Amino acid sequence: MSERSSRLPGFYKLSLAERVETIAEWANLTGDEKAILVDRGLKADQADMMIENALGTFELPLGIAANFQINGRDYLIPMAVEEPSVLAAISHAAKLIRAGGGFHTEATEPVMIGQIQVLDVPDMDAAVSAIETHKADLMAIADTSDPIILKFGGGARDIIPRVFPDTPVGPMLIVHLHFDTRDAMGANAINTALERLAPRIAELTNGRTSLRILSNLADQRLATARCTIPADQLAVPGMSGTEAARRIEEANAFAIVDPYRAATHNKGIMNGIDAVVIATGNDWRAIEAGAHTYASRNGRYTSLTDWHVDENGDLYGAITLPMAVGMVGGATKVHPTARVAMKILGVKSAPELAQVMAAVGLAQNLAAIKALSTVGIQKGHMALHARQVAMAAGASSDQIQQIADQLVAEKNINVNRAKELLGS
Ligand code: MEV
Repeated sequence: MSERSSRLPGFYKLSLAERVETIAEWANLTGDEKAILVDRGLKADQADMMIENALGTFELPLGIAANFQINGRDYLIPMAVEEPSVLAAISHAAKLIRAGGGFHTEATEPVMIGQIQVLDVPDMDAAVSAIETHKADLMAIADTSDPIILKFGGGARDIIPRVFPDTPVGPMLIVHLHFDTRDAMGANAINTALERLAPRIAELTNGRTSLRILSNLADQRLATARCTIPADQLAVPGMSGTEAARRIEEANAFAIVDPYRAATHNKGIMNGIDAVVIATGNDWRAIEAGAHTYASRNGRYTSLTDWHVDENGDLYGAITLPMAVGMVGGATKVHPTARVAMKILGVKSAPELAQVMAAVGLAQNLAAIKALSTVGIQKGHMALHARQVAMAAGASSDQIQQIADQLVAEKNINVNRAKELLGS
């Protein structure tokens, strides 16, 4: 069992300063790191070094999801997200999952896929067999591209030729490189390796190489999370846990069969995952691309999760998806807030980070489909949304909660009513 508990009862009731103190103590943050969380995140001059044409920065709220227990260890999860109720919902779901022993997760080795496009190949069979015959030499060339990754045990794992006999521009050979990028997300490592490989591939195939780029369908780099929740934990006022478990299974079945529902179901999963990907300075577009493509890998877009009532009447849940996240390189080490977020998370490797992300996705999904299939999503969501509506209507910080409470009491959460209440 873990030494520190991620249970933070009453955390949401603390003041901002008290919350920062609690997390600082938990993660042993320095004074500087605390200041970064509160008001000193990314500075304009740092942004200027990160992108072209910089003007400044764009802020997002950063919050903490509590109650996570993954493979027996407690985690507090930093999440950067603008949507109300994501943090409250996921912390609630993680608490239910904790009651069933927490998350059980696993990840593959961090193997990225890179692609080299080969055109004008005169003899496809000969080209394929030349690639197969020279696999070892080709992998050795790829291995020269990143001595650091090699030193840490990464490097080329496979070379796979794939033939597309009929494309809009004629036959095409695509050569895949599988490359273990260890704790890096690995985009630069694999793209460099591909550029090194391409001239030799052109020679071996007598073809012309064009695109050399990673694939975001990182299906050699998968993370899985599973959980079992005792049915009684799922009870809500007026509904037994057994009934709620059955309804959650039905909600998941809807997403399995219907792409219209699967898009929203998976969006809810990504509400959680993206928020952690952003907080840790990783590339959320890569994760989004991978998740949705993986969800359609069998030819029809479907749910990324499985939820069903198990033989004991309890609720079993599982998710598997590509998870190309790193903890070295990119913004992870450059963005001050991402550095602090990584310290709070306390993961030791990219595969561990990937497993946390999968657990987050599973929990966020449970929160959404439990609410949807029992009390409805608006009940909890609108109360939190009311604060944003009050802000949008121009409420000052000491008026926001009062106006929000009034909007909820009136069941009329809209900006015009908030403006009326503000007398503006
Ligand atoms: C809203 O951001 C996410 C949900 O729509 C997800 C879902 O429907 O499962 C609530």
